[in-house]
Amino acid sequence: MSAAQPTGTASQAAGRWVFPDSFVWGSATSAYQVEGAIEADGRGESIWDRFCRQPGAIVDGSSGAQACDQYHRFPADIAMMKDLGLDAYRFSIAWPRIVPAGIGAVQAAGLDHYERVVDALLDADIAPLVTLYHWDLPQALEDVGGWANRATVDAFMHYVDAVTARLGDRVPTWMTLNEPFVSWNHGYLTGEHAPGRRSLPDALAAAHHLLLAHGRAVPVIRANAPQARVGLVLNFTPVEPLTESAEDAAAAALMDGIENRWCVEPLAGLGYPADTAASLGWSAREVRDGDLATIATPIDVLGVNYYTTQFAAADPDLVPPASPATDMGWAIRPDGLSGLLRRLHDQYHFPAYVIAENGAAMPDQPDASGFVQDDDRIEYVRSHLAAVHDAMGAGVLVEGYFLWSLLDNFEWAHGYAKRFGIVRVDYETLQRTPKASARWYAHVARTGVVA
Ligand code: GCO
Repeated sequence: MSAAQPTGTASQAAGRWVFPDSFVWGSATSAYQVEGAIEADGRGESIWDRFCRQPGAIVDGSSGAQACDQYHRFPADIAMMKDLGLDAYRFSIAWPRIVPAGIGAVQAAGLDHYERVVDALLDADIAPLVTLYHWDLPQALEDVGGWANRATVDAFMHYVDAVTARLGDRVPTWMTLNEPFVSWNHGYLTGEHAPGRRSLPDALAAAHHLLLAHGRAVPVIRANAPQARVGLVLNFTPVEPLTESAEDAAAAALMDGIENRWCVEPLAGLGYPADTAASLGWSAREVRDGDLATIATPIDVLGVNYYTTQFAAADPDLVPPASPATDMGWAIRPDGLSGLLRRLHDQYHFPAYVIAENGAAMPDQPDASGFVQDDDRIEYVRSHLAAVHDAMGAGVLVEGYFLWSLLDNFEWAHGYAKRFGIVRVDYETLQRTPKASARWYAHVARTGVVA
């Protein structure tokens, strides 16, 4: 145990990391990526259903129409999680199943479905961690402006109220949004995600309305679920300048401002980063009196998604391909995770953290039975858990880890070409086969020891 080790958090022997008994071992998915059944029980159209039909939007021309069919197979998937000894499951609720037209009538069958999922998890002694918005906006709302339209914030309140009124008595942790940066940047600026728009003013309006929706949802959830903890999930990609030149430093600062600080600083009560706003030429005309205070409503826990660390250069063409890297081409940088957690702890002071996503797509090679000996994925997770442990030793309160992902699934614009699961899914038969990483992670979850 190192001298910096606070008591009762975590302890380390050489190459062996011992986590506290209270540490939560989970896995994560999201509705559109695993559920399929896009027409079941009165579900409305989502922006991803529409986007996937655009030629060229998804590399393999696929969609989430079938995905892993978890909508129907959740009892078996929950039994599998129980076999793996997992403490918790992070999943998302599909807004179009609850309010199919975006506003107006609530679809009881959608609520009934998620009530069955939550009850099955609780029966299996697996804690549900529910994300309310993991990117599947009802298409009807996009048709009237989507997140660039402030009225979508009101629509979100209606949806959140309906869900938490039904399930608020038994879900212990609610996350309002998943990765608002990706929603506004990929959805409204680069167009690589649904709804596929390309407008900086719309993107920055969407960013503001997403954060406002989060802030306004917090008291709605607290009223319906007074025992629950409330937070949101942000993704962070630390940035390093490629060289020591002033130009590369400026490129890194701007990238950090957009990708990392733009969401976290208003949530932490610091407002939007002024330097980044100036670089973007943002008018801030959508920010009304009181909005920043609403966005900064205190939360109980911040979900942190971390996959990689990137280099920035004034000339992006000079940045070499990452190595070593995952099958996404993302650099494998566990040191970036410990550094990130220390930075969040030192600069923003959220009360607690969970790692809401971390994991790796790898070029899996199944044997004839469908089994994958994914030592590369095990090493990725092992090294990142060591990094989490390191940050805990430095005093960062990390309460749990949700491995992305339980299952191979629909990886957005990459379709089914990238596999993040610790359980292989045969997309023809939908058969699940735990990989070596699932067995390894089950052992970690049972013992609390990473070796
Ligand atoms: C995310 C995404 C996941 C992705 C994962 C891998 O929250 O980024 O929530 O849906 O599948 O990050 O890219």
